[in-house]
Amino acid sequence: MARVRFEQVSKFFDKSVTAVDAFDLEIKDKEFVVLVGPSGCGKSTTLRMIAGLELPTTGKIYIGDKLVNDVLPKDRDIAMVFQNYALYPHMTVYENIAYGLRLRKFPKRIIDEKVREAARSLDITELLDRKPKALSGGQRQRVAIGRAIVREPQVFLMDEPLSNLDAKLRNQMRAEILTLRERINTTFVYVTHDQTEAMTLGDRIVIMKDGVIQQVGTPQQVFVHPANRFVAGFIGTPQMNFFRGTLHCEEGVFSVQVENFRVVLSEEKQKRLREQGALPGEVIVGVRPEHLQIGDSGISARIGVREMMGSSIHVHLTAQDRDVVAVVSGMDDAGHLLREFPAGAQTSLSFSGGAVHLFDTETEQNLEWKAVAAAETEEIIHAEIPDVKADLSSKKQKTGKLFAFLQKNPK
Ligand SMILES: Nc1ncnc2c1ncn2[C@@H]1O[C@H](COP(=O)(O)OP(=O)(O)OP(=O)(O)O)[C@@H](O)[C@H]1O
Ligand SMILES: [Mg+2]
Repeated sequence: MARVRFEQVSKFFDKSVTAVDAFDLEIKDKEFVVLVGPSGCGKSTTLRMIAGLELPTTGKIYIGDKLVNDVLPKDRDIAMVFQNYALYPHMTVYENIAYGLRLRKFPKRIIDEKVREAARSLDITELLDRKPKALSGGQRQRVAIGRAIVREPQVFLMDEPLSNLDAKLRNQMRAEILTLRERINTTFVYVTHDQTEAMTLGDRIVIMKDGVIQQVGTPQQVFVHPANRFVAGFIGTPQMNFFRGTLHCEEGVFSVQVENFRVVLSEEKQKRLREQGALPGEVIVGVRPEHLQIGDSGISARIGVREMMGSSIHVHLTAQDRDVVAVVSGMDDAGHLLREFPAGAQTSLSFSGGAVHLFDTETEQNLEWKAVAAAETEEIIHAEIPDVKADLSSKKQKTGKLFAFLQKNPK
């Protein structure tokens, strides 16, 4: 069993820097979890604590059922690809990859098989006799991955393993990591600051900011139900647009207004806002670029530049004195532009009542999940998404938990 569990783990450096703050997470056996967030948010520190290279200042870390706070890195059965892929400079690529296996006294023939297989899958066979200094950054990174994959550990830790590769190689390696995962079928904890990488690789994503977990969920959950404005802006590209708006509630029906544009919210959103006891007033209105319509009525906007992306067009506009992006499919089947978007022209933006995300102007929490701690949205969203496997009793339990939470935290 290679479950990894964090219980209220914090890490302070020099008493003044809080790198990781009250981190609570359970990574399931054989799960692929991605830690994502901006530079300095504590991703590497979290990973290094699993590896045993940093000790938690407070809290507990378990691998399987074993408390590992005092277990040395070498006794943890983990393999790690470091952010700076430290290779042994005096060894060839072959020796670098073989080193961990030699230490564990594998027979020569098995070592040779494993090294050559790893080299083949990473496309570095022709580099096996070279020393690291004669490699490019991307090649070194692949050697570092090779060194880790031959180990077949219980837990695989990867810290930005693709950051030095060009876009094409990165896509290729991403696919390679997915294949690797199927082949070695172990628990992966993967760190990146790239949300696309997180979305494509992770079974679940942990979004961090300033050492604090903002949300844990599947790629779909964090995209569709971002817990707060930070997650909403971080996940999805181009990023979500934000407007100043007002939430109205008339005869129990919620609608949202931005300037003169007003739209009644979808039934699903109405229900959640009612459950949360949302109150009318100023709100931050989030709309993804692909959900904005450019037309004759709505929020007034001025067209700026447009970027032709091939199948779609990213139209940049200014509305409410800020930059807004709308993604439109601008071509017919024959590749002719359907519409012109002349720079400087006045236009209007609108959106549907099912596509808006509403955030508190002060706390920036998603109003549909406002009363719930970010890490708990996952559980509650799970309860909302029909799950054929979930039996009735567990559903009841979850609903009960939500109910108890709301009772404890009346708005
Ligand atoms: N050894 C250290 N001594 C003091 N501060 C540290 C140390 N290691 C990390 N930090 C600080 O802890 C915070 C988290 O660092 P960490 O390396 O975990 O961030 P990260 O999310 O991996 O960032 P990046 O994406 O840039 O790699 C940062 O503010 C960093 O400056
Ligand atoms: Mg890092």
